[in-house]
Amino acid sequence: MFLEGKTALITGAGSGFGQKMAVAFAAKGANLVLNDINEAGLEETRDLVLKQCNTQILLVKADVSKSEEVNEMAKKTFEIFDNVFLLVNNAGIDGGLYTSLKAKEEVYDKVFAINVKGPLNVSKAFFRRMKRQKQFQPIAGKIINIASVAGTPNGTNPMLGIYSASKAALIAFTRLWALELGSSNITVNAISPGVFLTPIYNNDPKLIRQFLETRKIKIPIDRIGESKWVADLALFLASPTADYITGQNLVIDGGMSISISKL
Ligand SMILES: NC(=O)c1ccc[n+]([C@@H]2O[C@H](COP(=O)([O-])OP(=O)(O)OC[C@H]3O[C@@H](n4cnc5c(N)ncnc54)[C@H](O)[C@@H]3O)[C@@H](O)[C@H]2O)c1
Repeated sequence: MFLEGKTALITGAGSGFGQKMAVAFAAKGANLVLNDINEAGLEETRDLVLKQCNTQILLVKADVSKSEEVNEMAKKTFEIFDNVFLLVNNAGIDGGLYTSLKAKEEVYDKVFAINVKGPLNVSKAFFRRMKRQKQFQPIAGKIINIASVAGTPNGTNPMLGIYSASKAALIAFTRLWALELGSSNITVNAISPGVFLTPIYNNDPKLIRQFLETRKIKIPIDRIGESKWVADLALFLASPTADYITGQNLVIDGGMSISISKL
C-alpha cells in the first residue's frame, strides 16, 4: 500500500488510461482527485473505484487548457487534501489525420492548448505545494506525463502531424521539469504508449489494425495494447522502486517504434 496517505491527481480521468490509473492507484491506498471536462465520465470512474476500494475521491470538472480553471482545481484540492504526491498529466486529444502543414490553425491551437499547455498549467499550479511535502522523504512528489510514441523520434508520424509535435513537446517538458524540480526531490517522467484500445480509437481494434496496415507498421509483440498495462507502468513509476528514475520517457509499445524504419 505504498500510496497510503498520498493523493493522486489524474487529468482526463473520465475515460481510457485515466480511468484505469484511478483504479490502480486507489488499490495501492491513494486518495484521488479526478479531473475531466466530461462529468459523466468522472462519475463512472468514481463508481468503478468505489466498487473495489473505499477511498476519498474529489471530482473536479475543469478544462486543463484554461489556467483559471486549473488554479481553481488546485484550490479545491487543498481544501480537502493536504498533499498531491502524484500528478498525472493524462488528458489529451488527437488532432485528426492531417499532416502538420495541412492542418488548420484551429487544430494546432486546440491540440497544443490541451496536450502541451494543459500539462504546463497543471504542473505550474501544483509544483510549489509538492516541493514542500517533506513528510514524503526521500521523494516529495512525482509527475507523470502521458505522451505518445508519436512524439518520439522513431514514431514521428505525419498522419498525426500536430499531435506528433505536441507529444514531442510534452517529452521535452518532461526533461525540463525533471531538471527544474530535481533539487526539490520531485521526479518527472513520461510514458509513451503505442497503440492501445481506448475511446481515442473508438475502442475499435479493426480501426487500429487498418491504421497499422495502411502505415505498414509491424508490432514485434503483435498485440494491441490494453489500457491496464499503461496503468501498471504508471504504478511502477509511482512506487518507491522508481524513486531514482527521472527525466525519462518510458515507451510501452510492444516494440513498435523500434520496428518502424520509415513512415
Ligand atoms: N489510446 C492510445 O493508444 C494512446 C496512445 C498514445 C498516447 N495516448 C495518450 O493517452 C492519454 C489518454 O488517452 P486515452 O486513450 O485514454 O483517451 P480518452 O479519449 O479515452 O481519454 C482522454 C480524456 O481526456 C479528457 N479531456 C479532453 N480534453 C480535456 C481537457 N481540456 N481538460 C480535461 N480533460 C480533457 C477527455 O474528456 C477524456 O475523458 C492522452 O494524452 C493520449 O494522447 C493514447
